[in-house]
Amino acid sequence: MTRDHYSLASWVYDAATAGWSGGAIWRTRARALSHSEPGSSLLIPGPGTGRLAVTAARKGLRVTAVERSPRMLARCRKRIERHGVEVDLQPGDARQLPPEPLYDMVILEHFLNVFQRQEMERIREEMIARVRPGGILAVADFTPLDPQASKLASLPQRLHHVMPLGGCALLTGNAMHAIYDHGHELDGRADLRLEEVHDERSFGLGPAWFRCWIFRRRGGQR
Ligand SMILES: C[S@@+](CC[C@H](N)C(=O)[O-])C[C@H]1O[C@@H](n2cnc3c(N)ncnc32)[C@H](O)[C@@H]1O
Repeated sequence: MTRDHYSLASWVYDAATAGWSGGAIWRTRARALSHSEPGSSLLIPGPGTGRLAVTAARKGLRVTAVERSPRMLARCRKRIERHGVEVDLQPGDARQLPPEPLYDMVILEHFLNVFQRQEMERIREEMIARVRPGGILAVADFTPLDPQASKLASLPQRLHHVMPLGGCALLTGNAMHAIYDHGHELDGRADLRLEEVHDERSFGLGPAWFRCWIFRRRGGQR
């Protein structure tokens, strides 16, 4: 049996992310849902404790969530049952999803930052391929550094990123890496259009170091 890297983290995950960001992490994740319609299909790889999956199901979305950690899966299932909503919660590795079906929306909420760059890019491509033409890809992650800022000026933001990442790396074996700039890397592609970039402030008034990118896959119907 493989080790469940998230078994310890699952106990503290919600409190730690809420405390670290003053709710900003949740607000960027929830922002993605403002681009969804009731009845549309949504894929969430790595839903963790399932807060977004439950909120989306309560909004009337048809949610599929694929979670690898048995402990996170159990927490997610409990939350789904507590709220009496329907979510197709699948145990397993989101990297092994079949190429079909395609979804109206795929939300990657603090999922890509689990992986080293090369693997992250591969998984990001796989997830883009699972959005139907005309559908939405939403990515919630850390706000990238300002490329114009000096090393000194960006130090607080780099520390703000490296501390939770380091904690996660110790606790869960997640990758250590620089902040990924999904907007810069994906904007201008033939198959995607960047529709919105939304930053959230820690505790509502601190620096805006959490971001949600909304991309639309070109082609098809809205
Ligand atoms: C950093 S947590 C984010 C949890 C949740 N998305 C959130 O924003 O609160 C990453 C989650 O992805 C899950 N995960 C990591 N790799 C996975 C994979 N290959 N397939 C499915 N789930 C995975 C972890 O078990 C964990 O629950």
